[in-house]
Amino acid sequence: MTRNFLQMFFKGALIISAASMILAGCAKDGNDGIGLVGPAGANGKDAIVTCKLCHNPSVVDSVATQFQLSKHEFGEAADGEAGNTACAPCHEQEGFKYVCNMNIPATFAKVGTDTTYTNLYMTTATTAYGKLGCFTCHSSLHTSYGYADFTPLTTVAPVPMTMWAGAKTINLTQDGGKSNLCVKCHQPRPFTKSNTGQDKNVLNYAQLVSLPNDTFYSPTRSNILNVLKPSYRTHTHYGTVGAIFAGKGGVEFGTQPYPQSIHSTAASCQNCHMAPMTGAAGGHSFKAKGNFNGCNNATCHKVGQSSGLMSASNADFVSDQSGIKALLTAIASKLKINGVEILNRNGDATTNLWYSLTANHYDGYLNIYDPVNNPTGSTYNTTMFKNPSTTGFTAAQITTNNSLPAISLTNAQMGAIINFQLCLREYSLGVHNYKYTNALLTNTLAILP
Ligand code: HEC
Ligand code: HEC
Ligand code: HEC
Ligand code: HEC
Ligand code: HEC
Repeated sequence: MTRNFLQMFFKGALIISAASMILAGCAKDGNDGIGLVGPAGANGKDAIVTCKLCHNPSVVDSVATQFQLSKHEFGEAADGEAGNTACAPCHEQEGFKYVCNMNIPATFAKVGTDTTYTNLYMTTATTAYGKLGCFTCHSSLHTSYGYADFTPLTTVAPVPMTMWAGAKTINLTQDGGKSNLCVKCHQPRPFTKSNTGQDKNVLNYAQLVSLPNDTFYSPTRSNILNVLKPSYRTHTHYGTVGAIFAGKGGVEFGTQPYPQSIHSTAASCQNCHMAPMTGAAGGHSFKAKGNFNGCNNATCHKVGQSSGLMSASNADFVSDQSGIKALLTAIASKLKINGVEILNRNGDATTNLWYSLTANHYDGYLNIYDPVNNPTGSTYNTTMFKNPSTTGFTAAQITTNNSLPAISLTNAQMGAIINFQLCLREYSLGVHNYKYTNALLTNTLAILP
């Protein structure tokens, strides 16, 4: 047996007790093995053989090393959001297992006789913890102690979308439905009618489309007519890939049908994100950046096929990505009121995860004053807008806020903000679903004055 394995095996009491449980299992004679530990020697050897199926340099050890490159492993949100039952379905291992195992619906419900809605897609206080790891996605590890324990994934079921309160479902059936595992977390969160007096149900996107010139938010009309107040953080949550990939997430302006790229039905997330490793991408790093191993094969991109082999310099790849970038930039430059940009720019490549995606370094937030999250504004935006809500502001902060120009939004502008955020934050500049992304942004640009 390998040194590596022995080190692991004798690390501590926890490990010994894990092994004894198995010994008991091996030794059981119709007594369920509870409390009975079989003769140590011979059975110990059996257990070790079973463990070695996985605990060896080419399986768990090597996958765990790849996983060190994955934000699932080092991302900070799992620590930051521990205890938060609204964030845990996607950010905490136990929370994710809970919403999968208990089949928690994505619907909004009225509470009792209340007139307001509440989002049911939550975990419980006792399951809102746990960093993402092997046991998050592999639901049967340490059950039969065979290699096949890797096969069952925590979920491959169709995913009712939380952003639509379950009214739309994503089901990516290619590759055994494995993409549904990813989409369960990599989907946007809902925008809600959050303003005072509103019912807190999800925002009606169809209305943004059918009445584009109507006022969405105005500081000068009766506040009860404003369904939500824009703020710096009015945004589509980061996990937008699932919705764009499946072509089900946008505010679909225009009357043209929305086409889907072949990727949305023929490729799985695993095909591109878990392809054989190249550099720091592939396998359980879950990264796709610069790794074309998943693209080029007998069924997808190959010599002789119209686009040829995929690479960073492939003409289609380059022109599709620059086309999407140009559309994002054009929409951003139309989203202005009296010359002041509605979208925030952030010139800091460390805090702005989307820094390199547009030349102006938009990050998807809004250019609105916020004493905590946006106290000084970006040096890249000339000025920022007044925050419509001043709850918790000091007198000095209210003075600062009052010196700034007021923001107002039409339905078209609100829809354009949502679509901009979706397409910036899907991160691939159209690789996930070029046709849908292109249609969404082209129609958005057309609806904006
Ligand atoms: C189906 C593959 C598989 C088999 C068989 C297996 N393990 Fe594991 N084990 C794993 C994986 C995967 C991890 C998580 C590794 C990580 O987090 O880096 C793990 C982790 C562990 C840990 C660390 C604590 C924990 O639960 O995260 C211990 C201890 C352990 N295994 C003991 C054993 C023993 C003892 C056996 C044999 C009786 C065994 N394992 C058999 C896959 C397996
Ligand atoms: C349990 C929820 C969950 C599942 C399941 C999940 N992810 Fe993630 N993923 C996340 C979260 C949360 C982050 C961001 C972590 C952070 O920043 O703290 C993330 C980050 C990523 C990143 C960022 C890349 C990086 O390392 O910079 C990629 C790519 C990714 N996931 C791909 C996938 C793929 C592909 C699958 C399916 C095989 C998948 N994810 C399954 C929740 C999940
Ligand atoms: C429906 C699933 C889901 C829910 C619910 C969710 N998130 Fe996320 N969140 C994600 C995914 C997926 C990512 C990573 C997206 C990526 O890297 O492309 C992410 C990314 C983040 C990040 C960025 C981390 C980084 O990479 O810097 C923060 C911060 C965050 N989430 C906070 C929260 C908070 C706070 C809540 C609860 C109020 C929450 N999330 C609820 C899916 C979710
Ligand atoms: C975000 C979800 C996710 C996490 C976290 C994850 N895996 Fe996986 N793993 C998968 C998926 C999906 C597959 C199937 C890949 C495919 O079909 O190409 C897989 C496949 C595997 C396989 C190959 C099984 C086979 O079919 O031969 C091994 C081994 C494995 N994972 C080990 C691990 C270990 C060890 C960890 C922790 C260090 C881990 N996984 C963490 C999603 C995950
Ligand atoms: C056709 C190949 C392909 C498929 C299929 C695919 N992706 Fe991607 N994905 C990419 C590329 C390329 C990028 C951009 C990588 C880069 O430049 O860093 C990307 C980026 C991402 C990112 C952001 C990475 C980061 O560093 O923040 C996430 C998260 C992600 N994809 C998740 C998914 C999920 C979930 C699926 C399945 C629903 C999926 N992808 C399917 C190619 C693909």
